[in-house]
Parts: sequence; C-alpha cells; structure tokens
Amino acid sequence: MTMHQDKVGFLGLGSYTPQQVMTNEDWEQLVDTSDEWIRQRTGIERRRIVAEDENTVDLALAAAERALTAADLSVDKIDEIIVATDTPEVYLPDTASFLQHRLGTRSIPAYDLGGSGCAGFLQALDLARSRVICGKDRVLVVGVEVLTRLMDWTDRNTCVLFGDAAGAAVVGRSSEAREILAATAGTDGSRSEILTLEVGGTRKPFTVERAEQNLHRRIVMNGREVFKEAVRRMSQAAHEVLELAGRKLDEVALLVPHQANLRILRAVGKRLNLPDERICINVHEYGNTGSASVPLALDQALSAGRIRSGDLVLLTSFGAGFHWAAVLVQF
Ligand code: UT7
Repeated sequence: MTMHQDKVGFLGLGSYTPQQVMTNEDWEQLVDTSDEWIRQRTGIERRRIVAEDENTVDLALAAAERALTAADLSVDKIDEIIVATDTPEVYLPDTASFLQHRLGTRSIPAYDLGGSGCAGFLQALDLARSRVICGKDRVLVVGVEVLTRLMDWTDRNTCVLFGDAAGAAVVGRSSEAREILAATAGTDGSRSEILTLEVGGTRKPFTVERAEQNLHRRIVMNGREVFKEAVRRMSQAAHEVLELAGRKLDEVALLVPHQANLRILRAVGKRLNLPDERICINVHEYGNTGSASVPLALDQALSAGRIRSGDLVLLTSFGAGFHWAAVLVQF
C-alpha cells in the first residue's frame, strides 16, 4: 500500500431532519414554560419532530443515503454498520438490523451502540476508525434519535430540550479521506444517577403502575450537575485529542461540540479560548438531538461552506453514563 492511500477518515457525510417544526410557543401550550425561559436558559428556539409515520430507521436511512451519495459510493461498498441511538426502532432487534435491510446491503455485520446518550456518535466513530484500521474497507456510522416519541411530554424539566434528527458518515481508507487524526473517549459511571431513564430495565421493569405515572418516559436529570460535567468533560476531551495528535488549539478552524445548550457551548468556547465564529452552533434550530447532534452540525457546517479543505475540525461530545469523546479531523 502506498503512503498516499493511507488516510483513514470521512469519505462522505449526510444528515436528515424531519419537516415538522415545534417552537417554544408550541411548548407554552402544553407545559408551564415560556419562550423567554427556554431561550435564556438553553438558547433553543425551535426543534424538529417526526411525522406520525416516521420512525428511527426512516431518519437513519435518509441520513445514510445522503452520506453514501456524498461519498459517491453504492451501498454494496459498505462492509459494516454501526448505529448510535438511545431511541431504537423496537426493543429487540437493534435499529442497525432494520437499517441493513432497508439499505439493501450485503449480509454485513451491523450493530447498535446504545445507552451512551449524546456521546454515542463519537464513540461509534472511534470504533469505526478502529474497524477500518483492522481491515474493513468502509464502515457506515449513524447517529439517530427520535427523542420526542419516547420522552415525557408533561415534564417541563426535560421535554423542551430535545428534538429529532439523524446524521451519518462513511468512514474508510482513501487518499481523498478527510483524515481522522486522533480520537479519545472516557467514562465515569459513578455519576450515572444525574442523567438516567431507569424504568424498563431489570432494576425497575416496566409495570402498568409505573407506566401510569409516565415513569417509563421520565428522564431523571440533575440539570446543573449535567451542565458542569458537560463543560468540564467536553473541554478536557478536546485538549486530550489535540495532545494525541500533537496539534494546538489555535490551529483549530472549527469546534463542533454536542449541541446541548447554548450556555454549555459558550462555556466550552470560553474554556478553550475559542471565539464564537470558530464554534459550530445550531442548537437554536434543532435543540438537543442526542447522538445525531454532532454529525448533523458537522454536515450542515460542511454544506454551508464553513469548512475548507485543510481545516482542522474538532468534534467533542458528552452524554449519559457519563461518557465523553472527542475526534480531530483534517478536512
Ligand atoms: O445531552 C445531555 C442532556 N442534558 C443537558 O444537556 C442538560 C444540561 N443542563 C441544562 O441545560 C440546564 O441545567 C437546564 C436548561 C436543564 C436548566 O437550566 P438551569 O439554569 O440549570 O436551571 P435550574 O435547574 O437552576 O432551574 C431553574 C428553575 C427551576 O425552578 P425553581 O426550582 O428555581 O423554582 C425549574 O423548576 O427553572 C424551572 N424550570 C423551568 N421553568 C420554565 C425547569 N424547566 C423549566 C421550563 N420552563 N421548561
């Protein structure tokens, strides 16, 4: 193999957001909240929500097809599929099985990475890169979430934060690849109680009594603690991945952080000493879209011409667990 073929990275990116828009004013009709509160505390103005006949795999498929088109690849060139989601199509089997069938790939391995919240896509990206280094030619990675279908629409502490979306990337080896220079990830399970959905597992199985209280949809969250952890871990992961690649913050053209909350993004920017124009922000339009958040923001930044050839782009994320991850890409 010649040196110029040695780059492992993105061959193509794609994303999909449902048509239907839900504004803060729409939420005012449903829970005791206000547009002013939501904007001030989160920066969110609107979010997309799925149509009645759309499920997780429909969003995943749309984003995956766009990533394949961007990579100029037919589906038979894909060797493995990883889907990061906490809102799967059904409980069993995983969403990746449905996606494999709908895409019409060969009988390749396909699996989900679930439970890592908003860090799921970057964890999956790190895995995909390793799989390519281990010999797979091309891995399709999808981050998809239909949070509005499974959350508690009466809990104002969480419901106004989320939106539905999907983002996808084809990762492979090519002289044309946008190279993944380094990746890092970590977990601190000692803090799992500050962001959790407990009912439905073996600890608290689903029962009618629990369902009547809407507990199967109740995301238990200590917002302030999650906020602090998010800022700390996303900034720390950003430093770590730069160090691994031997690069400096002032070389970073664009930071693409998980879009949880505008105040979190600004606080990360401040810690990293990056001005607003070097931070990718779309949380006002889409809210927190979980594992779809980073690939959606990245794909939109690329389509909008915010990323040029040669740019160093830093992706950083955190999610329930707590998990965090960062990936450094040379476009
Ligand atoms: O991807 C991970 C997902 N989670 C996150 O990213 C969450 C991270 N945390 C946050 O984004 C922020 O902590 C929140 C936006 C969730 C909350 O903002 P905050 O500035 O930390 O507010 P707070 O928790 O201090 O709550 C302030 C008040 C409370 O009322 P009291 O107890 O002070 O009377 C809440 O009950 O705001 C109240 N509140 C609301 N009021 C109007 C909570 N949700 C709402 C709401 N509308 N939707």
